[in-house]
Amino acid sequence: MDTMDAKGIKIEKTTRPKAKPDWRNLTFGHYYTDHMFVADYAEGRGWRDARIVPYAPLVLDPAAMVFHYAMEVFEGLKAYAAKDGRILLFRPWENAKRLNSSAIRICMPTYPEEGFLEAVQTLVRADADWVPRLPGTSLYLRPFMIATEPHLGVRRSNTFQLIVIASPVGAYYPEGLDPVKIYIEDEYVRAVRGGTGFTKCGGNYAASIIAQKKAEELGFTQVLWLDGVEKKYIEEVGAMNVMFKIGDEVVTPELGGSILPGVTRSSVLELLRSWGVKAVERRLSVDELHAAAKSGALAEAFGTGTAAVISPIGALSIGGELLQIADGGIGAVSRKLYDTLTGIQWGDLADPFGWTCEVGSK
Ligand code: COI
Repeated sequence: MDTMDAKGIKIEKTTRPKAKPDWRNLTFGHYYTDHMFVADYAEGRGWRDARIVPYAPLVLDPAAMVFHYAMEVFEGLKAYAAKDGRILLFRPWENAKRLNSSAIRICMPTYPEEGFLEAVQTLVRADADWVPRLPGTSLYLRPFMIATEPHLGVRRSNTFQLIVIASPVGAYYPEGLDPVKIYIEDEYVRAVRGGTGFTKCGGNYAASIIAQKKAEELGFTQVLWLDGVEKKYIEEVGAMNVMFKIGDEVVTPELGGSILPGVTRSSVLELLRSWGVKAVERRLSVDELHAAAKSGALAEAFGTGTAAVISPIGALSIGGELLQIADGGIGAVSRKLYDTLTGIQWGDLADPFGWTCEVGSK
């Protein structure tokens, strides 16, 4: 039966709901819910036909530009089931803004921020019984925009789709909060200034997989990326932002066009500063990191991202030398950040920053 929500999103509920997964073994990105959000864009007509439909394969022309020139951008955010029954989103308006800044860089249309929030909320309401309730689990939402016009010339597309799918997830890394071993990548680079590093475009991730494969072959979980010009400064870790506690300061690479402005990154910086910890955004060279690791000043290292939240780094390989960070375990700051962020996200702790937003029942 078709219905229409208050903001004009047409809702077609599935008549064949899927069996739910084993909530205790979700891992990351394996299961998809019963519905998805879709909206179409045509040049001159704008966005229209926003709808929730049963989750299903897409039908696209093989010449659709997304397939040939990687005209795709995406976002990632989560819906959390609070113990009191509320469903919470974490700073979804930041994802709405970032989707648009990615879209502008890839010459795609922007999507109204209000409409993005409504799309995400309407999908979560339609699939509310897919929001997992076990500790550490959530419903990962993946909004993405693709160029759908069939055309092989290299130019801007005239038609696009915005789609949102949802996936109940557990921990991103099988290690969970256990510290991972990281390898400093000195051959491949992820991004350069002036390129697309600050966007969430699929191409960035496609280009990164070869280094991840290499790291895994060498016995590491992920790579630490260096800047694309001098291969001297730290940029990101795997698909996450990275932070280091050196002495009393937490240092993270400054945003400069090649680094993703992570929502978790900015939340961690705000939390640290609210605790009176000096959190600095600046360039950090491998040499400085190496010296800090050698002298014992490097107390903690961790990745930050929506998927893994905080991912402690236990050891770093620099120039063939494997350096353990402190005792190789989870540092106190990493642990406190993880507990506080997840506490706010799941509604267990007060939210003094106004970061969470409730998905209403209507
Ligand atoms: C995140 O940390 O949310 C990411 O960006 C990883 C994602 C690409 C799976």
